[in-house]
Formats: sequence, C-alpha cells, structure tokens
Amino acid sequence: MDSFTFTVQTGPVAVFFHKTITIPVLPRSGGIYVADENTLPLLQKAKNFDSSMPLVVLAPGEEEKQLSSVERILEAALNAGLARDSVFVGFGGGVVTDMTAFAASLYMRGAGLCLVPTTLLAMADAAVGGKTGVDFGNFKNCVGTFYPAQEIHISVDALRTLPQAEFMSGLAEVVKTAMLYAPKLYQILWEKKESILSRDGDLLLEIVKRCVQAKAHVVERDLKETGERMFLNLGHTFAHALETVAGLGTISHGEAVAWGIARALELGKRAGITDLDWAKEATGLIASYGYSIAPVHPVLAGRNEAETPQLLLNAMKNDKKKKGGVVRFVLQREINSTLVTPVPDAEVLAVLA
Ligand code: GLY
Repeated sequence: MDSFTFTVQTGPVAVFFHKTITIPVLPRSGGIYVADENTLPLLQKAKNFDSSMPLVVLAPGEEEKQLSSVERILEAALNAGLARDSVFVGFGGGVVTDMTAFAASLYMRGAGLCLVPTTLLAMADAAVGGKTGVDFGNFKNCVGTFYPAQEIHISVDALRTLPQAEFMSGLAEVVKTAMLYAPKLYQILWEKKESILSRDGDLLLEIVKRCVQAKAHVVERDLKETGERMFLNLGHTFAHALETVAGLGTISHGEAVAWGIARALELGKRAGITDLDWAKEATGLIASYGYSIAPVHPVLAGRNEAETPQLLLNAMKNDKKKKGGVVRFVLQREINSTLVTPVPDAEVLAVLA
C-alpha cells in the first residue's frame, strides 16, 4: 500500500492506494456505508467490510442524484444513532461519493467522511477536492457544499470490471487534467493509448496517481474555487449545457466533457487565445480516444438543429459558475496555460453550429 497526504483549508486528506479493494475500519462510534446496486457486491467483498454496520444502497445513475437520496442517507444515519465522530463511507462512482459527502457535511453539522471511489472518474476527479452535491431543477450539482473527505481509499482493481462507457467517461477527466497540469500525463495518453484502453493495471495506477496529485495541489491552494480551481472546469460549461439539453443521464458526464473541451479549444481559437497548433493537437488526442469533436454532438442528432445552439447557450446562462450574469469560459493558450474569461454570445453560438 502506498499513500500520501495533502492539506486543505479544512485539514489533512490522506490518500491510500491499495492493491485490492479496501475500505476503512470504522471507529467505535460506528459509521454508515453508502453504495449503489452496482457497487454493492464489490463493497461486500472489500477488505474490512463490516456487515453489522448500517448500509444504504441507492439505485445507480445520475437520476438518483437528488435531495431525496441524501435524505435517505441522513435518515439511516439518524436511525442508527450515529454521532458527529461516526464515519460516512461513500463507496462508488461520483454520484455516490458526491451524495455521501453532502450527507456527511450536513449530518450534525459535519460528520466523518471516507470516500472509496470505484470508477475512473471518481478516482481521478470527483472524490478528490471536497465538492459535494446533488442535481436540482434539472441543473447538475446545483445544490451542495465543500466538504473534503478525511481519507480516500483507491484501488484501480475496481476498474477491471467497470463498464466501458463509464471507463471512457472517466478517461475524459484524465485528458482534462493532463491538458491543464500534467505534460507527462499528456504524453502518456498519446503514447500508451492501447495499454490504457486495455486497462493495464500498472498504467492505470500511474495515471490515477498523477491525476490525484495534480488535483491535490490545486485544491490545497484553492478549495472553494475562487481562483485557479476554476480551471478544472475546462470543457464543463459546454458539457453541463449539453447534459442539461440532452436530458440529465442521457449522455455520460465524461463524454460531454470531452466534447466540451473540444468546443472550448475551438472557442479559444475564435477568441484569438488558443494557439492553433495546440488546439489541433489536443483535439486530435480527444478524437483519437473516440470522443465526438463535432460542433453538434451526436446525442442531439434529430433535434431542431437551428434551435440547439441557443438552447445550449440558455443552459450555460443558468450555470452556477456564471458571475454577475455573465458566463465565463475556461480557455487554454496551450498545455499548462489556462485562463477564465467571458466570451461574446455570438462567438459561443458560432462554435455550436
Ligand atoms: N471537478 C472539478 C472540481 O473538482 O473542481
């Protein structure tokens, strides 16, 4: 087992990398496990699983990312008599880890929290950095808190059985992290594509470690996203709009993010910000992994094409990251060089048609 610790505003976060799937030993004050129907069998086989502890099993999928699911977790914790020093263990993908963390942040004004991400997306991004929440009013992650886990337990062994669509969803966040902060990771993504796609365990471990470390450095400096953490939303303004317009759960988050990054590169080109060679190369990497880079994402095919750019723009204007009513975009000059800026509506509409 390998581990490292980083420190955010709320305290230290210990990250453990295990060979086999391992969950924390619960304290004397007890705890609660949260899984979904897909991750439950893995949880029951995980090292340190204690079948006498309360367990909430949610239905899988983005549709469940609602306040009612968080309420179920809180009710179960209360019924089990848990205290503030009890530990909530979120075992699953980003939906489960975000909601478990949200519940932990609310319970008795903040209970113990350990996350055990089982998808590539949650390992590389969602479980690290303390963002919690649920979808609300058809907007993704619109209601939530910042509440970092005290411990994160990762085993890439969980990725062996991950459905292909979910694996590819997570890989998009890996591409994002590489473009933002990690030239070496970016190089690995180009050079070792076959081994990555065949889920070579050592390589996945290296990739996940590089992502966690890159993100840890960012959230150490900017937990509450007042500055550079905003860069982690590269592609996300487009992606969230696509997910909203397509209908939450219709397209995977990562697929939407990959498309959104390609749109952001195009927008950056139009705004005279993004280096043309960088845009071409990074878009090439995204396409080489099979993600759509088309101005109109295929998930919207068959809809009124004349209307879709405006629908997407409307969704962006409701994005929680807009400031003073203005949508701001994360754009890149080149690898490892990023900025956040408003862009005129006409330019945004132009890259969506
Ligand atoms: N997923 C973006 C962030 O954690 O800030």
